[in-house]
Amino acid sequence: MSSRILIVDDDKATCRLMALGLQGAHYVVETAASVAQAQELARSFEPQVVLTDLNMTGKSGLELCRDFADRWPDVPVIVVTAFGSMESAIEAMRVGAYDFINKPFDMDSLLLVVERALRHHSLRSEVKRLRAAVGQAGWGDSIVGNSTKVLELRSLLSRLSKTEATVLVTGETGTGKEVAARTLHDHGARRNGPFVAINCSALPESLLESELFGHVKGAFTDAHTRRAGVFLQADKGTLLLDEIGELPMPVQAKLLRALEERRVRPVGGDAEVPFDARIIASTHRDLEQAVALGSFREDLFYRLNVVQVAVPPLRSRGGDVLLLAQHFLRRFASQSRPEVVGLSEAAAMRLMDYPWPGNVRELRNAIERAVALTAFDHVRAEDLPERIARFEPRHVLVAGDDLEELVPLEEVEKRYILRVLQAAGGNKSLAAQTLRVSRRTLYRKLEEYGVEPAKPTGA
Ligand SMILES: Nc1ncnc2c1ncn2[C@@H]1O[C@H](COP(=O)(O)OP(=O)(O)OP(=O)(O)O)[C@@H](O)[C@H]1O
Ligand SMILES: [Mg+2]
Repeated sequence: MSSRILIVDDDKATCRLMALGLQGAHYVVETAASVAQAQELARSFEPQVVLTDLNMTGKSGLELCRDFADRWPDVPVIVVTAFGSMESAIEAMRVGAYDFINKPFDMDSLLLVVERALRHHSLRSEVKRLRAAVGQAGWGDSIVGNSTKVLELRSLLSRLSKTEATVLVTGETGTGKEVAARTLHDHGARRNGPFVAINCSALPESLLESELFGHVKGAFTDAHTRRAGVFLQADKGTLLLDEIGELPMPVQAKLLRALEERRVRPVGGDAEVPFDARIIASTHRDLEQAVALGSFREDLFYRLNVVQVAVPPLRSRGGDVLLLAQHFLRRFASQSRPEVVGLSEAAAMRLMDYPWPGNVRELRNAIERAVALTAFDHVRAEDLPERIARFEPRHVLVAGDDLEELVPLEEVEKRYILRVLQAAGGNKSLAAQTLRVSRRTLYRKLEEYGVEPAKPTGA
């Protein structure tokens, strides 16, 4: 397809001349006699390159450069300047013009400049497209969700991934702490290095130390060979110290020392070896409380807690529950049961009601099981684990941002109406006024609820 070029010049003859030359080279050309007209035309014509005169009656070509740089930064603008007015050409480049050409010009040099600008344009679009694709793959895949909480989390992780700061990732079990740590690694400067995770709660104290720092040959009975610990395995990469809250006291002291010196001493050795890894720690425990109770060293806590990333519980992420459910459903269905394509409405409601104490992991497991069990192409409520299928929401909050329990909208409405009525001292006219509904509507609702309005609701 031929490229589209917009020519802007208040001199009709010049416009015509340029247009003819460019059309002769099979470009599609539009002309505008003023900046205002060019701006108008640009929207429908979507030029790939703009050629503009600088001195025109009305707005100048400089203003056009500025405007395009602002609104269509990918469209190169070439200014046509009178011979010897280098200064205005430079000024134009400064406000965003891509190139300039002196008047009078021959057709060949005009074509050359235009071609170069077009190449630039297509490169810019390609880079942008690739970047968008990469960005999406990176963020969308790892941390599914678009609740405010998750958007905030992603933006924090994005900022932190550009730093080397030690990060403490906290959050309830199954919220995605490891996913968050991985995301930090995958988006940071160390992404081509290794990501090594060690679970500090899974090993006995003696083994843990050698796993962390390595050991020399003969350090203990089973140490037949020398072994590098995770600090060295994570060289030029990231080390995740998972379940850091479970670290035994003696190892805490050694870890603190290693972090402070940026060196490790392998078990059984005398020499300290420098390491080069970004450190991320994570825990589902309240470390501050552990510090207060004396089971976690305060100095180590401050070493690790340079920046804290709190991964929010699933029940505070609203509709993300369904996004995640769809995500897992698609994944598990594609592995084994492609005929399963979605969730029934009833199942979706159960998922929204349930408070997810085991967070994303619990949801994942529930969906995996449901996809495997269902006899239908849509997962039904009965396919969900009993505790979820039969869950009855008990506590209902009517609140804004800190709504922790997810309840049906109807339920929120009911509680709110009762609360307002209570606040109005049982005065239905006043309550109806406050709610901006008619008294009739209010009566009807109260009848539906089958409640005695004067009673306290306990909400
Ligand atoms: N936002 C998310 N999008 C997609 N998958 C997620 C998300 N969060 C967590 N998961 C998945 O949920 C499971 C639990 O996540 P992860 O292991 O990171 O949790 P955790 O907080 O480290 O849990 P624990 O406290 O038990 O160690 C994993 O399978 C992970 O891939
Ligand atoms: Mg974990």
